[in-house]
Amino acid sequence: MTSRAETQSHSVKVSLNSRQIKMIIHNEPPVEHRQDLPVDPDPYQEMIRELNSMVGLENVKELVFRIYAMLKVNQMREKAGLKPSKQVHHMIFYGNPGTGKTTVARALAKLFHKMGLLSKGHLIEADRADLVGEYIGHTAQKTRELVKKALGGVLFVDEAYALARGGEKDFGKESIDTFVKMMEDHRDEFVLILAGYPSEMQQFIAINPGLPSRFPIQLEFPDYSLDELMQIAKGMTEERQYAMSESAELKVKSILQKEKDNRFLNFSNARYVRNVIEGSIRNHAARLLRQSLSPSLQDLQMLRAEDIHRPDSPQPAAPFLLPLE
Ligand SMILES: Nc1ncnc2c1ncn2[C@@H]1O[C@H](COP(=O)(O)OP(=O)(O)O)[C@@H](O)[C@H]1O
Ligand SMILES: [Mg+2]
Repeated sequence: MTSRAETQSHSVKVSLNSRQIKMIIHNEPPVEHRQDLPVDPDPYQEMIRELNSMVGLENVKELVFRIYAMLKVNQMREKAGLKPSKQVHHMIFYGNPGTGKTTVARALAKLFHKMGLLSKGHLIEADRADLVGEYIGHTAQKTRELVKKALGGVLFVDEAYALARGGEKDFGKESIDTFVKMMEDHRDEFVLILAGYPSEMQQFIAINPGLPSRFPIQLEFPDYSLDELMQIAKGMTEERQYAMSESAELKVKSILQKEKDNRFLNFSNARYVRNVIEGSIRNHAARLLRQSLSPSLQDLQMLRAEDIHRPDSPQPAAPFLLPLE
């Protein structure tokens, strides 16, 4: 039986002034509760291992399952003599910094390649400076060139609203118009993802009413909860073959809690976690070199509370005690 809480966890909506953009992900049970479709679990599980190792992001995981399911059903339909259905997969990502947008875009590019939707599976990242030129016609040319580079993969445009910065006269508009044309001309050949802060993206969409219908997939990347941030911290530590002592973990948690509360709108989520962990690893290395000539295996791995600091806090300059040779 699927509980109510589980079925509700997939509701994703983004409000757009008086309108609502309808997400394609609604109150649906997560993948593991689905029994309505015969899926060979092994190749699928293998395919999504990287995405599954990311904390949270249930809406992204559900989306990938749906696309996979559609491809499988298409194969069955073709065998049965029915027409396969074709879909475009251009997307808009709404989320604050460090919520996983770029990482997910890269993972989707690879996944779509494995699923046979994209011929190469690479990711091209672009921002306004890469797309907008300095004279009439230059922008269209720059944008077209980038789309060409992205063919077979994903073109990820970060802070896409910057394209609408200067209003009607701005060259950014030329870039949007070029995208729209390229999306028609190369329908199945690349995936365009526009990403950025939720409120700015909503405004951007609102002043370009032709856009939402061209982006059938719209995903929200919410800020991570403290528990999720801690899971991410542990994952990042283990991935680097380190561990945290109990008191180190508590210290990380208290730093994250404070930063999340204080920064509020510009808290950089998992990126901040990464900075805490990487800074702590440097502190750990400095401590080991200062303390002992032959650290044990456990010493080499264990981050202690004294190694954990806010990434922006100045580190005490202690004398280097080891002779250099
Ligand atoms: N859900 C997650 N699980 C594990 N690591 C994550 C998750 N989301 C983000 N990260 C990590 O946080 C860092 C910043 O993520 P990124 O994708 O660059 O965020 P954004 O593009 O939204 O600013 C990366 O190192 C990424 O691997
Ligand atoms: Mg990013």
